[in-house]
Amino acid sequence: MLTEIHQQLEQLARFSSTDGPGVTRVLYSQVDQDARNYLKQFCLQRGLEVREDTIGNTFARWVGKKPQLPAVGTGSHIDAIPESGKYDGTVGVLGGLHAIILLQEQGFLPDRSIELLLFNAEEPTRFGIGCLGSRVISGQLPAASVTQLKDQEGVRFDKWRSKAGFSGDIYSCQLSKDYYHAFVELHIEQGPILEAIEKDIGVVTKIAAPSSFSIQLTGEGGHAGCVLMPDRKDAGCAAAEIVLAVEEIAQLSTSPDTVATCGIVKLEPSAVNSIPKAAYLEVDLRDTQVATRDQVLKEIEHRVVEICRKRNVAFDFKMLNRDPPAACHQSIIDRIRLNSDALGYSHQLMISRAYHDSLFMAQLCPTAMIFIPSRGGVSHRPDEYSSPEQIEKGVRVLAATLKDLSDANTVIS
Ligand code: GLV
Ligand code: MN
Ligand code: MN
Repeated sequence: MLTEIHQQLEQLARFSSTDGPGVTRVLYSQVDQDARNYLKQFCLQRGLEVREDTIGNTFARWVGKKPQLPAVGTGSHIDAIPESGKYDGTVGVLGGLHAIILLQEQGFLPDRSIELLLFNAEEPTRFGIGCLGSRVISGQLPAASVTQLKDQEGVRFDKWRSKAGFSGDIYSCQLSKDYYHAFVELHIEQGPILEAIEKDIGVVTKIAAPSSFSIQLTGEGGHAGCVLMPDRKDAGCAAAEIVLAVEEIAQLSTSPDTVATCGIVKLEPSAVNSIPKAAYLEVDLRDTQVATRDQVLKEIEHRVVEICRKRNVAFDFKMLNRDPPAACHQSIIDRIRLNSDALGYSHQLMISRAYHDSLFMAQLCPTAMIFIPSRGGVSHRPDEYSSPEQIEKGVRVLAATLKDLSDANTVIS
């Protein structure tokens, strides 16, 4: 298993629209399509039934002895933000597939079907909103809102979707509450804890509450040499002040878990001898508690008003998402812990500060997550790394948990 997963992760990383070492794979791009086809072939070779919904979420089902029962789901995403690593999401998809293969090779046949999911766009790169596929599947993003989505050039969701070969009623993507009995996602930690405390497995208890918003600033452009300083309405300077205000407000939050990042800052016309007439920002704001996150959000909004008033710059503030945290299901947590112990792997209960498709799957069915260590806590960077041995431990715990959950007599209470 070790060599095969490792080779497949390397192979997947070649489906990238940038040269490397970083991986860039954005929803509905050619490399995204190619990577999906690559994975679908493996699923078909293993006898899984593959289907895609009308937006491209992909399901590969190992049909159980009692196919009429709600299935057990596992999986993650394969899209990758610009210049990122090889492991974020892909470990959960390939790991899910190898967990199924492991069970098949043990001669096990599940009662409930076990289904591998490849969620569309867990990353917000194309349409500015993360977990697109799992939001739709779980009914948290209605079809009408999906069709309103546009990329940063104003190209509509439907245009991208049909270019990638998908069409049809988006409402049909929503799954009923009894479609899955349970869902378990394997993922790299993306933080430093497991490595620091030398534990093999992270058992996630809660996923932090993410939010993001955009601010479009409109000032007045002009000649960089000829407009004197008192006469300016510089949208770039307003953006710079806002970036620093966001950092300061997050630092002063009463919660040590508040984190805020201005990851997108664009100036127009972006010429060295021209005063920026417009600026566009996107801010990512998270916390483990909704109350402190929303307090920080209020303070940022307040500060944006002040900064823009002082600088005579107009602004348009748009909330992109504002999600609650999710709790993982206690009885699946307990099973993951027992399975780690039985396999001789050490484990640690922990919070996920990153968001995952499980945040939304938890709205649909009992859900839990298994983490494996990330070297140096590094993620969303080309040097992201988890060793084949660490991945294998995650896959073995996942396989044991899927095996338990697929038993028709297993009650999740
Ligand atoms: C997922 O990629 C996240 O940003 O948490
Ligand atoms: Mn990610
Ligand atoms: Mn991820």
